[in-house]
Amino acid sequence: MRDKEDQRVDDSRRTWLIATSVAGGFGGVAAVIPFASSLAPSEKAKAAGAPVEVDISDLKPGDMKTVAWRGKPVWIINRTDAMLAEVVKADDEVADPHTEKPFSIPLPAYCNNEYRSRADHKNILVAVAVCTHLGCTPTPRFQSGPQANLPNDWPGGFLCPCHGSTYDLAGRVFKNKPAPQNLDIPRYMFTSATTIVIGKDEQGEA
Ligand code: FES
Repeated sequence: MRDKEDQRVDDSRRTWLIATSVAGGFGGVAAVIPFASSLAPSEKAKAAGAPVEVDISDLKPGDMKTVAWRGKPVWIINRTDAMLAEVVKADDEVADPHTEKPFSIPLPAYCNNEYRSRADHKNILVAVAVCTHLGCTPTPRFQSGPQANLPNDWPGGFLCPCHGSTYDLAGRVFKNKPAPQNLDIPRYMFTSATTIVIGKDEQGEA
């Protein structure tokens, strides 16, 4: 018989699939992966892992958007200066501050820095929203300070609803949590000041 933890993990993943299936656009791509044979050629390519282009011209400071890449949710977050300052403060609180043990994909060299982002757009975080414990989708909890299910000195970040792992605003897991590693950072590049391509960089496609 399935236990409650299994059910919670399944529910979290199901929530992502339902959300993407109703969102259309990129989200729809993830949701229809099982039915890839019915897709048009360009949609099949996306479902299989082709790069995804994202317009972030509407992404205000402090906002995030979620797109699908390779069937996984990927966050794009426009961090404010205050949020970046919290990343620096979290260095001593996270388990692997320099991502020496990446999860499922290598950390791109250009993101091997304090903010885990490209230097010319350091405010923009691009991270795979798959908890490194058992794969649930964490929830953004950007507001700092005391609140439900978080410590009183919470600096802002993400909370996984399944077993309580927490991540900072660079997607680094806090110490002593079930999740062992930081969130993955995919390869990505800017093709204009307001356009990101996920799954591709100057070296080619991921
Ligand atoms: S899946 Fe267990 S803490 Fe995220």
